Amino acid sequence: MHHQIQWTSVCSKTDHFASVEAFSAETARRTRQFHRSFPQYRETSLKPLSGLAWHWKVGGIFVKDESERFGLNAFKVLGGSYAIGRYLADLCGLPLESLQYSQIISKEVKNKIGEITFVTATDGNHGRGVAWTAAQLGQKSVVYMPKGSSLTRLDHIRELGSAAEILDCSYDDCVRRAAMQAKQNEWILVQDTSFPGYEEIPNWIMQGYTTMALEADEQMERIGERPTHIFLQAGVGSMAAAVVAYFVSKYGKEIQFFVVEPKTADCMFRSAQEPDGKAHCITQQMNTIMAGLACGEPNPAAWKILKSYSSTFFSCPDWVSANGMRILAAPVKGDEPIISGESAAVGIGLLEELMQNRQWGTFRKKIGLNEHSKILFFSTEGNTDPQRYQDIVWHGAFHRPNNFTK
Ligand SMILES: Cc1ncc(COP(=O)(O)O)c(C=O)c1O
Repeated sequence: MHHQIQWTSVCSKTDHFASVEAFSAETARRTRQFHRSFPQYRETSLKPLSGLAWHWKVGGIFVKDESERFGLNAFKVLGGSYAIGRYLADLCGLPLESLQYSQIISKEVKNKIGEITFVTATDGNHGRGVAWTAAQLGQKSVVYMPKGSSLTRLDHIRELGSAAEILDCSYDDCVRRAAMQAKQNEWILVQDTSFPGYEEIPNWIMQGYTTMALEADEQMERIGERPTHIFLQAGVGSMAAAVVAYFVSKYGKEIQFFVVEPKTADCMFRSAQEPDGKAHCITQQMNTIMAGLACGEPNPAAWKILKSYSSTFFSCPDWVSANGMRILAAPVKGDEPIISGESAAVGIGLLEELMQNRQWGTFRKKIGLNEHSKILFFSTEGNTDPQRYQDIVWHGAFHRPNNFTK
């Protein structure tokens, strides 16, 4: 079981589907309009891997390359920056419809709001986005990282002037610490997961991610394509839920969504297995190379969306992600290479197993993966830990177990 990929669909029965209204194309366009006002904004590229699609006998494979986002090597800044923008807009009475980067960094706004400290917990990418936004605004940030975090990721955050530190506890405990410090010091908590009494900012963060979904949707449209299957990796589930909600609000139930997690932090997978329909937490140690996905407590708001609309939840050992990284780095002739990090490539690694391993034949049919499928992935980070990236891609670390049957 340890080395095996497991799957489940949602076991609870419900006829209540979560609302996706807050993630509509209209919201996404407003969010993107805000992101577009940043001088660093560029649409990240959508890379069609036609050679790989031919090789695996599917209709199309498309990878959105978020390593290009704002020079920060990951998509996460979309959430933190939008939430901070919204928070300041509310504080200063700025109209949301025309919210601009130039307004929130202006002297008038700074004079009005004075000194603010933004605090958050992170495995790296979210904290870097918050620290970056705070630095752009001339404000302070404090970032807590869980035990075992990469020192390179810590350095990247500190380089932005943030008071970042690695604590001797899990990601979920770092979230509690950040919340407590925010309360004690009157700092502003910018967390990418919600808990009772703290819902507004996480919701804005999720709305921030819709820029990525909207771009991908429009990029596919431009080449005359529409996804039939979307694979989304999950930590607390905010990114996956935002993307699912965007596409459901636009296309209804046309698309199948697959949620993918690391085996040691598969809180969505386990929640899906329970008949009570509730989000369930993991308290065990969450050792995994997929640092961005090492979260044991689902965002309750995200879970409601994911359980309503996801077709299948997968729990994957680390070798699946490592394989995905290698496949994207050394593609089929004619396809463009993609530098995809540990928390970004697990979906591609999983698709290889689903398409190439005979054991998955029946399952493949069940979910309709065939020559007509147009499959979309979000490569949500590049090599945010370059040493580990090399260990995996150059030196073959975390390979598939030798006795694995095909
Ligand atoms: C690169 C990357 N991908 C995906 C995720 C998952 O996002 P979420 O925690 O919203 O599920 C993260 C979270 O930090 C991440 O860093």
